[in-house]
Amino acid sequence: MNMQNEMPAVGAVKVYAAISGVVILLMMLFGLVMRMTQGQILPIEPNVFYQLMTAHGIGMVAIAGLGGSAVMWHFLGKYVNLRAGFAWANLAFFLTGVVLVLGGIFLGGFAAAWTFLYPLPANGMGMWGKHAAAAYMGGVLLVGVGMLLFYLESARAIIRKYGSFAKALGWHFLKSGQDAPPATVIASTVVTIINIIAILIGAVILTMMLINLYVPEIAIHPLLAKNLIFLFGHVFINSTIYMAVIAVYEILPKYTGRPWNVYKPFVWAWSATCLMVLTVYPHHLLMDYAQPLWMHIMGQIVSYTSSLPVLALTLTATLGSIYRSNIKWDLTSALLVLSIFGWSAGVIPAVIDGTIAVNQVMHNTLWVPGHFHLYLLLGCVTMILAFTNWIANKEQAAGFSGLEKAMLWVFAISAFAYALMFLLSGQASVPRRWAVHLPEWLAYSQVASLFAAGVVISAMAIIVRAMGGIIRPARQA
Ligand code: HEM
Repeated sequence: MNMQNEMPAVGAVKVYAAISGVVILLMMLFGLVMRMTQGQILPIEPNVFYQLMTAHGIGMVAIAGLGGSAVMWHFLGKYVNLRAGFAWANLAFFLTGVVLVLGGIFLGGFAAAWTFLYPLPANGMGMWGKHAAAAYMGGVLLVGVGMLLFYLESARAIIRKYGSFAKALGWHFLKSGQDAPPATVIASTVVTIINIIAILIGAVILTMMLINLYVPEIAIHPLLAKNLIFLFGHVFINSTIYMAVIAVYEILPKYTGRPWNVYKPFVWAWSATCLMVLTVYPHHLLMDYAQPLWMHIMGQIVSYTSSLPVLALTLTATLGSIYRSNIKWDLTSALLVLSIFGWSAGVIPAVIDGTIAVNQVMHNTLWVPGHFHLYLLLGCVTMILAFTNWIANKEQAAGFSGLEKAMLWVFAISAFAYALMFLLSGQASVPRRWAVHLPEWLAYSQVASLFAAGVVISAMAIIVRAMGGIIRPARQA
């Protein structure tokens, strides 16, 4: 039942990985420009800063989604029969959506941040018009439609092979202890379920806001809009790491020689995450006094528990599988292990911010970008880089040159220090999303810019090297 179909990465997966590498680099450059602007190293106008911030936010979220999809599609395809046409259709929607989003931002001047919070997109106050807002929101909607097709095809293939989501989640194994599905299938099923729900909710609010743009009489309840937007956005960005972590489950065993076995706690953890991921987003609304009290309380409790089960098991299983395993170190295996550290460390500031008393003072500061840059840059993006490097090496362990070791260390140290500077800025009450910083905050942004440059240079070296391997035909490898 769980037979693995060992195929090298082909077609869509390679294209996904290559596009992810290039876009991650471009968005990192946008990020560097923003941080240098905040440090008054670059003279960028505030309206351009907010355009870059919008492009960087939505671009990074979308590309983490595409990179994570590459990992999931590649490994899930070894267990179930996925039809490649859906991966290409997703890509076509993605690219068309991106063109619209970029047009809305850089031609139309849209700069309402990636979260497009109602009613801001319809109130550009002369900085952008409604067509620019429509292009942005229509573009995001198209990206969502493509992703929905991708998950519907995953759902079809999973149900066809395993009979039901319940079986693919391993619930029968909890009772009988027999025939556990592979870790990849369990993780993919969870992501498929949560993202189908999240994307449908995102499509509803985007459509409502598009209608409201042109027919303002049809107004939306702002708190309802915020809830729908955050449910969609938070689940989608959370799911990127739940897809990317499949790279750890599938690739690390090739280096340690120890299979990633599924035990009952693993099944429990993923099923619990499936529920909690959908209910954790209210920790972004703890400052909304009109939100029902029970949702605030749920937001705090679920923030403490949401990512812990899967993370704790993945962390202990990673450490357990490395310990005395004679693991072969190369760039891929080192990035994979680093990513588990980044994910684990990134959760700590999130849990702190999810505490209502702390949230009241910290949420609108750079503490929050500190948390998500730590777990997305050192966790999710690092997993995607490891996967890209793995397929660039034709899915084989490789040598570990001095240059690669240097690239890895510069990346790890700069990324950690960069995120730490966001956290320190937050701790010093530097507000989030301000293009112009007060003189007493400049040092934070300037030191952070130095580390950001380190991230960009080392990531560029890793990505450019991997691109060579991806483009090179297999017979020349
Ligand atoms: C070299 C690496 C990076 C740099 C220099 C960078 C820089 C920045 C800066 C300066 C901000 C604005 C912070 C503020 O004042 O609120 C920001 C926001 C953001 N970044 Fe990054 N970033 C990097 C990597 C990433 C990665 C890897 C991701 C996700 C995969 C990411 C996702 C975001 C998001 C979602 C926002 C929020 C935008 C908003 O508030 O609307 N960034 N980044």
